Amino acid sequence: MHNFKKNPVNPPVAPLLATYTPYPFPVVRGAEDRVFDGQGTAYLDFYGGHCVAGTGHCHPAVAAAIAAQAGKLIFYSAAAQLPVRDEAAQALVEFAGADMASVFFCNSGTEANESALKIALKLSGRRKFVAFNGAFHGRTLLALSVTDAPGLRKAYESLLAPATFLPFADETALDAADFSGVAAVIVEPIQSMAGIKTATVSWFVALREKCTRAGTLLIFDEVQTGIGRLGAPFAAGFYGVTPDLITCAKGMASGVPMGGVLMNARVAAQLKPGDLGSTFGGGPLACAALVATLKVIREEQLMERAGVLAEHIRGKLHGGKVQEVRGEGLLLGLNAGPQARALKAYLLKQRILVGGSDDPAVLRLMPPLTVQVRSVEVLLDTIGEFDAQAAA
Ligand SMILES: Cc1ncc(COP(=O)(O)O)c(C=O)c1O
Repeated sequence: MHNFKKNPVNPPVAPLLATYTPYPFPVVRGAEDRVFDGQGTAYLDFYGGHCVAGTGHCHPAVAAAIAAQAGKLIFYSAAAQLPVRDEAAQALVEFAGADMASVFFCNSGTEANESALKIALKLSGRRKFVAFNGAFHGRTLLALSVTDAPGLRKAYESLLAPATFLPFADETALDAADFSGVAAVIVEPIQSMAGIKTATVSWFVALREKCTRAGTLLIFDEVQTGIGRLGAPFAAGFYGVTPDLITCAKGMASGVPMGGVLMNARVAAQLKPGDLGSTFGGGPLACAALVATLKVIREEQLMERAGVLAEHIRGKLHGGKVQEVRGEGLLLGLNAGPQARALKAYLLKQRILVGGSDDPAVLRLMPPLTVQVRSVEVLLDTIGEFDAQAAA
């Protein structure tokens, strides 16, 4: 028994452990590309609920699919064959294309990456990874091993798996790197948290070729770039490069927690029942939400919209404090240099939510793929007002 009497005065703590610094208002409701506080005040959500609300907040078709499934079967694990789980796997594999033949369902992005990295260790017998400077792949220990965030890693350094970090999108560094004995290379096709950093197709092609030559598995972490956000199902197809595994999460079930490891047939054929597992992974609610999400993306032509809206934003934002628009589709970074912080605060005052990044100069836009054209206009006009005030 702990003797709490030795420390009679416990420090005051909140029932909910603090993790992020939340918005200065509570979110009680969401609809389409907006969220609302308790007074009914609307905020335009260009942060997309942390890049999760791909089909928008509470899309009626997704909400109806979840409600219908909840009335039939809320949960059964992989101990049972579920038609909705089979349907979800089939739909996701078809959506992905790009040589992906099979999927393991889990519950989050870090779990998807953890599982993909474990698969690489198991199949190769090798014990090291290659990742890239600035990468974020999650907070569980293997995912953290390939994450370049000294502050997050510090307390666990001795427990992390060996990983070499290369400069992202650098062909010379890639050329010089030695992949012998490397189980897997993991890469975010667009580095999001690092400040929306992109690479060229030729770099991806060189990376693919080098992995193939070394017998190293190539994992695309598409937790942010996947499920239509770039204007293609996955970045793999967008860049025309075929990884061995693709991980996804975030918006795949429109906000019902879900992660997935897509893999090609060569990888899937080497795994047997029991190698991977999860009680909640591929639960019926998440699977129903995934099927509905992919249907909405297809029927509302959301991928086509993503490319068009990105071009519109890019075309309008020049000559002001936003010096550069980075990224693809609806995963965009606005480089506002030293004005980024002030711009983010101004947008919040005007009830527009955008994301920050590890680069203090870069704000991130990752709105619902359903974002309305008039919401985009409001964003652009508000940035224009900010520019005018800064110039005055
Ligand atoms: C690229 C990428 N990978 C992995 C993760 C981890 O996902 P999760 O928070 O669902 O564990 C994130 C989260 O932001 C991410 O952006």
